[in-house]
Amino acid sequence: MVEPERHPFLEGLSKHRGAPPTVVVIFGASGDLTARKLIPAIYNLSYDNLLPAEFHLVGYGRKPIPDEEFRSMAAKAIKDFSRRELDSDIWGRVAANTTYVSGGYDEKAGFDRLASHIRAIEGRVGSEVQSLFYISTPPSVFESIIANLGSSGLGGRYLGQTHHSKVIIEKPFGMDLDSARLLNGTLGSVFEEGQVYRIDHYLGKETVQDLLVQRFANAIFEPLWNRNYIDSVQITVAEDQGVGTRAGYYEQSGCLRDMIQNHTTQLLALTAMEPPGSFEAEALRDEKVKVLKAIEPVALGPDGDVARAQYAAGMLAGKSVPGYLDEQGIARDSATETFAAIRLSINNWRWHGVPFYLRSGKRLPRRVSEIAVQFKRPPGTIFPSKDGFNLAPNTLSFQIQPDEGLGMVLNAKIPGLETRTQPVKMSFRYATTFGSNTPEAYERLVLDAMIGDGTLFIRGDEAETSWGLYTPVLQFWKSEGRRGMEAYAAGSWGPAAADRLLAARGHAWRQP
Ligand SMILES: NC(=O)c1ccc[n+]([C@@H]2O[C@H](COP(=O)([O-])OP(=O)(O)OC[C@H]3O[C@@H](n4cnc5c(N)ncnc54)[C@H](OP(=O)(O)O)[C@@H]3O)[C@@H](O)[C@H]2O)c1
Repeated sequence: MVEPERHPFLEGLSKHRGAPPTVVVIFGASGDLTARKLIPAIYNLSYDNLLPAEFHLVGYGRKPIPDEEFRSMAAKAIKDFSRRELDSDIWGRVAANTTYVSGGYDEKAGFDRLASHIRAIEGRVGSEVQSLFYISTPPSVFESIIANLGSSGLGGRYLGQTHHSKVIIEKPFGMDLDSARLLNGTLGSVFEEGQVYRIDHYLGKETVQDLLVQRFANAIFEPLWNRNYIDSVQITVAEDQGVGTRAGYYEQSGCLRDMIQNHTTQLLALTAMEPPGSFEAEALRDEKVKVLKAIEPVALGPDGDVARAQYAAGMLAGKSVPGYLDEQGIARDSATETFAAIRLSINNWRWHGVPFYLRSGKRLPRRVSEIAVQFKRPPGTIFPSKDGFNLAPNTLSFQIQPDEGLGMVLNAKIPGLETRTQPVKMSFRYATTFGSNTPEAYERLVLDAMIGDGTLFIRGDEAETSWGLYTPVLQFWKSEGRRGMEAYAAGSWGPAAADRLLAARGHAWRQP
């Protein structure tokens, strides 16, 4: 058996953040997310000794799968997708308590079987065990799973005053404001808000949490973090992949729903929120909701605040790739955007007049997520403006992924007998400072939900506030059909419309 690695991120975790005895039930356990993220996350938590001594894993799905086969599927998922190799002793500890229950998501009898299965586990353990239900199915069955968790009594289990059941719900949380409200209503009829953990896996990323540490553990930033010193903020979530095999899902979703409404807006909220009174879930989420509520309604139409486009054929990494409309499973007249850019204004004292530019897209030159805070230029300069003089605005950039880190662009004197300047970059890289074996977002999130810490999850009102902002845009685009839809070559940084959005305020996108 391998010794658990000592890793600075994990120091002290096992001592201070113990989860109670838990049974994790995954709905949709034969699916892609379970194999790629959830099983590897559970394995790595076991590797780091962060699972409770009494830990049970139950898969649930429509297809009958014998326990042994589910364990083999899980072992294969670890081999294929875990950041650490499969160690048979470590996996064996989890596998010994891994079982499968088959049943429909709308079949009450299936949930009754699940309830008996959990009671049988508790019988063997000799006490009650908290249940964490992870809904990892397509959203079409979210509602029936929640309703059946209610009708089978699984959703409302208590031990004394403490909730004994929790639910993690995957994205997308609704398709617009109405459907998000409906889903919140269904959740609210079975669970209390404190039992509900809405996933945005971006919040589980180390670099996203580091953004809070940088902002609130370093005194130098706060005095500058406002409209007096900051000129604009750019948030980019770029993918190099095309739609791939997910055409069915993507045609219903599009970039605004898939990336902007959740991940990109979460990055904005963490960048722009006021300092919370504590690092408690409610304190942090209150501040996020407050800043989202301060965002002004988005202007639509020509010269409005939004741009959308679809990728056309182009070259990426030396290969030619087809345009969106030529991808398999995509309608020739599809009006689904693969790129969206948006200009947001926050109407509060800190941010009045500072544009926040958000963009995301598929088939961009590389996969990168970044927040770039651009500071105002110095008021005048003592340095002569002549050839070789190149005064750049200071920019603080948080690289969320890949090559996680933080960079600051400063102006420096080029060595020599003349005074010539050049922008230089000071940077901190996670991999060089802390080593590269960083925990995956899902490890942190599954552990937090087991412990009962909702800080890195989305609260119901937060999901609705975010949808409230973007639903008018979705409705407008729907009414426009393909009118105003631009194209951008695959492998480029997006359409001309996105450049115009910034140029209107004297800005330009930076190359992340
Ligand atoms: N995959 C990812 O990388 C990823 C990333 C972020 C978020 N998510 C979210 O995570 C959830 C699960 O994603 P996934 O990629 O794992 O989904 P998936 O593989 O398409 O489906 C998961 C499981 O749900 C059941 N299922 C599939 N289609 C169904 C349908 N139409 N009606 C009822 N059950 C159905 C199947 O299990 P049985 O046939 O055994 O019942 C399937 O194995 C989704 O909400 C997705 O948006 C996924």
